[in-house]
Amino acid sequence: MQNPEFVKNAFASIAPRYVATNHVLSMGIDLLWRNRVAQIVSEWKPSRLLDLATGTGDLALVMQHAMPDTEITGSDFCQPMLDIAAARGVANIVCADAMDLPFPDKGYDAVTVAFGLRNMADWSGALKEMKRMLRPGGHLLILDFSLPSGLLRAPYRWYLHRILPMVAGWMTGHREAYDYLARSIEDFPCGEAMCSLIGQAGFIDVSVEPLNGGIASIYRGEA
Ligand SMILES: C[S@@+](CC[C@H](N)C(=O)[O-])C[C@H]1O[C@@H](n2cnc3c(N)ncnc32)[C@H](O)[C@@H]1O
Repeated sequence: MQNPEFVKNAFASIAPRYVATNHVLSMGIDLLWRNRVAQIVSEWKPSRLLDLATGTGDLALVMQHAMPDTEITGSDFCQPMLDIAAARGVANIVCADAMDLPFPDKGYDAVTVAFGLRNMADWSGALKEMKRMLRPGGHLLILDFSLPSGLLRAPYRWYLHRILPMVAGWMTGHREAYDYLARSIEDFPCGEAMCSLIGQAGFIDVSVEPLNGGIASIYRGEA
């Protein structure tokens, strides 16, 4: 559970360097993850899709490219991130808080959220809001960081807490935003715990797909 004002200000401060910093920190792997999401969502053939916490539009742009016939709306509560999304070509943009969205019930065939839910003030409340906007049978997809288990866990945590904030702080001038990133990943439920949270929000057929040894995961559910 996060403080919305802190989160909004943190993303506003790093917005100009967000895209480049992401690619450096993930060594480009985030591009593969977004392509995997677009591949899954394409199979659902949604007519209307809402990409929540769209930020600078990284996932929305990959999906726009993969699904030119789908009406995709990108929504976020941080205007400086959305300004970059618009400049990069995200077609439909709405500035709004994902905890209380100005969209009607059951208006979307799919909702996606990449690296966004972890930053929200109330994970269960946000999931219920996502469920509200999906038509019955509509699809939810969440992509977010998770903590790997086994041998990878210790070196990954060392990278997360020591190397990542140092490199990102150097690139953006805002190390505190990346100390927060490491803390937020530690606090965020993953694997079966996240599946159970999604199920409690009313979704069925919930599943998890770990990526790259579990440093990120894709969760799916049906409304
Ligand atoms: C790590 S960025 C992810 C951006 C993009 N989805 C991506 O994959 O790169 C997280 C985004 O979540 C947004 N966010 C966090 N809490 C939010 C909320 N309650 N409502 C809307 N957006 C929120 C932030 O403003 C930020 O742009």
